[in-house]
Amino acid sequence: MFPRDFAWGAATAAYQIEGGWQADGKAASIWDTFSHDKGRVFQDHNGDVACNSYMLREQDLECIQQLGLTHYRLSFSWARLLPHGTTQHVNHKGVEYYNNVIDELLANNVSPMVTLYHFDLPQALQDQGGWKCAGIAPIFDNYAKFCFQTFGDRVKLWLTVNEPSVCAKLGYESGKHAPGLEEPGTAAYLVGHNMLRAHAMAWHSYNTLFRSEQKGKVSLAINSDWLEPVDPHCEDDVAATERDLAFTLGWFAWPMFVSGDYPEIMRSAIDSQSEKMGYVGSPRLPTFSKDEPGILGSADFFAVNYYTSRKVKAGGGAGQMSMKSDCDVEEIIDPSWLISGVSWQAVVPGGLRKLLKYIKDTFNSPAIYITENGFSQMGPLQMEDVQRCVFYKDTILEVAKAIQEDEVDVRGYFAWSLLDNFEWAEGYSVRFGLFHVDFCDPELRRTIYKSGQEYAEIIKKHRGAL
Ligand code: NOJ
Repeated sequence: MFPRDFAWGAATAAYQIEGGWQADGKAASIWDTFSHDKGRVFQDHNGDVACNSYMLREQDLECIQQLGLTHYRLSFSWARLLPHGTTQHVNHKGVEYYNNVIDELLANNVSPMVTLYHFDLPQALQDQGGWKCAGIAPIFDNYAKFCFQTFGDRVKLWLTVNEPSVCAKLGYESGKHAPGLEEPGTAAYLVGHNMLRAHAMAWHSYNTLFRSEQKGKVSLAINSDWLEPVDPHCEDDVAATERDLAFTLGWFAWPMFVSGDYPEIMRSAIDSQSEKMGYVGSPRLPTFSKDEPGILGSADFFAVNYYTSRKVKAGGGAGQMSMKSDCDVEEIIDPSWLISGVSWQAVVPGGLRKLLKYIKDTFNSPAIYITENGFSQMGPLQMEDVQRCVFYKDTILEVAKAIQEDEVDVRGYFAWSLLDNFEWAEGYSVRFGLFHVDFCDPELRRTIYKSGQEYAEIIKKHRGAL
């Protein structure tokens, strides 16, 4: 049913699990600053301790073993490795920590997939302008080269940036994520642009300097809901859906997989909104310079995070210069869909199959890794999380159908998340783990949920199957 070498994984991110925010020479990241700023995060929670994976990595490994994972996706904290963000000062304790994590995974036959940037820019770089500055790209490239050089003998799957659209929109437009800026207009596009430039530089560095020896793969993780028209027979709804997909998936995938540039639908929607608003100045969606390493082809596989689906129709833009107005669509949750713990997550396993098929058809049949997929829980704790069990079973069945019936080249599936953890602006109020973490217990005990057992069963059944 699944290819023999299919990656059965679970994922986490440094700030969400590690804690040790000042331990052994780690410097602050934008999430340390943001979460310490009162009123930003649910009940002023922060990641100072989180799951304390910095001290408890052996316990995480036990969880990984209990699930029978073949792969584990983690992220590096840039500010733990390079406290000032640049390679002039390396924190050897940070290097030692990740060396230990990687070596222990490999010793247990688990392959690491490493994300270099999962929302946590070193504060020192933010103080110099962060992702809005063009100069961040070569700085990121140096960080990436440092990581390839230091860990690439053992890490074969790399993700440069996780969910750039989320960092850009929530970090720079709505201000709901670090660095908490509210600058609707151009900032989010600029941030996304610099993230893509940074990614491409790192990919080219890997390609020329490391690939022949290390034989790994590098990509960037794009999040995308599955989107379909409210009325598939209504031209406006169909056009709105295409526009929405161009603003979500296309924003980063089109440049890497299709043309080296942003989707035309996206550019023209932004330009026409700018014109309506009487905007004068250079285009709000930046253009790529010819002198830089090419974006087209700068991904060795397609990495997608999928959580939910929406029905789409035209309209909804608030007549401002913002991404919402530029895209000008209304997204609707079908009333028949189950809602999980958080209001944004309608549970639509079938949406993943459709998204995978869409990626195959639109982006030249790439190899795909589902780098995140999960089910949120909120409110009273449910260790017997039956709905989540059903969710994992149904979703993995949809992935199987995508592989067998739609012939999509899916190489792996990573559940989000290994552990309950710091869910960004929602703090610890939202739980995505396959293992419960008791945040009131000083030992931060990990206990498997029923859905963790379910996932372990699924893996056991399919791991190594033909
Ligand atoms: C995607 C993000 O990469 C991850 O950090 C987050 O916790 C999940 N979505 C759930 O919202």
